[in-house]
Amino acid sequence: MASRLIYFDYAATTPLDRRARAAMLPYLGEAFGNPDSRSHAFGWEAEEAVAVARERVAALLGATPEEIVFTSGATESLNLALKGLLRGCGRQNAHLVTTTIEHAAGREVARALAREGLGVTTVPPGIGGHLDPAAVEAAIRPETVLVSVIHGNNEIGTLADLEAIGAACARRGVFLHADATQSFGKVPLDPGSAGVHLLSCSSHKICGPKGAGALYVRRQSPRLPLRPLVEGGGQEQGLRPGTLNVPSIAGFGEACRIALDEMPEESLRVAGLRDQLERALCGGLDGVTVHGTEPRLPGISNLGFDGVAAEAILLGLRRVALSAGSACASGSLEPSPVLLSLGLEPKHARRALRFSLGRFTTVAEVETVIRELTELVLRLRAAGPVAT
Ligand SMILES: Cc1ncc(COP(=O)(O)O)c(C=O)c1O
Repeated sequence: MASRLIYFDYAATTPLDRRARAAMLPYLGEAFGNPDSRSHAFGWEAEEAVAVARERVAALLGATPEEIVFTSGATESLNLALKGLLRGCGRQNAHLVTTTIEHAAGREVARALAREGLGVTTVPPGIGGHLDPAAVEAAIRPETVLVSVIHGNNEIGTLADLEAIGAACARRGVFLHADATQSFGKVPLDPGSAGVHLLSCSSHKICGPKGAGALYVRRQSPRLPLRPLVEGGGQEQGLRPGTLNVPSIAGFGEACRIALDEMPEESLRVAGLRDQLERALCGGLDGVTVHGTEPRLPGISNLGFDGVAAEAILLGLRRVALSAGSACASGSLEPSPVLLSLGLEPKHARRALRFSLGRFTTVAEVETVIRELTELVLRLRAAGPVAT
């Protein structure tokens, strides 16, 4: 049923690529071993699969395999990065600098740390949705241990200037974490040379399976003072104990291999489709606003339609799966905190929709959405102003 819908919600999750699925299948069947079983071939086979996947994740980040810690997804990676470092640094008065445009995962972890008594400063972006590296630097205090910023924004697609923020953190001697959940596999990333110490990413945003993600932990001496979130066996250098999810990790590795191979072509194609959508809607209708300025992720477009509530469009556009913001907040009627922090009034924030496109989006689908959305907006406007 749902497969007859046009899927424009790639930022929420992506379909599993057939090749990633094929890479998982042996580990859901006869190759069921535990990679920590060192005394027999079942274990060796699983260990080999994890090693291959680790190399592929690392390759997408220009990192070494030892710098990759497998997790269940970006939410867990973010928790490990922020709580692990701030609890592990041994400072009572540790301070965190983050931003007002984080995904709920980053935002809630920062809130939890504030409840534990840590100091937290949140830096707003400029009007276009971009962080000013000088504003981030100005928020750093003598007690600051970590700066954590979202790299590719999940609602408006804006890309943070990691090099400039990394340089500011290096000047001030603080660690930098990047939430690269949306940008990983979509745009080139090189945390080592950008001065990033920790980076969170996820498999299911790049046509890999759910249930796998990674935290990049920069190798340096002395080691980053990360404290694990849970106790157990010594897996993942003791940072993420527990038996590894081998099938999902194998699929994640294959998704990374595909992303590395196909990124230049795919990001151009997807950005072209996004531009086609924006050009047609902005050209064919009055009162359409694009939220978020370049540089942006190729596949995310956040558009506001004057006089029309996002809810009315979501209800009226029955053949299209899309959302008004992040999947975690899509059941809520509250205006998005990300859009509010761009300076939008609540009524304007309630008129915004997020279109997110990806690997399997076609020109025909974009044309259908343009046609049906244009007709719907004209119809809704003709029906009279909606209280939003
Ligand atoms: C920017 C960002 N960070 C973190 C997450 C959480 O990722 P996961 O679903 O892998 O836990 C998401 C998911 O939408 C995201 O977009």
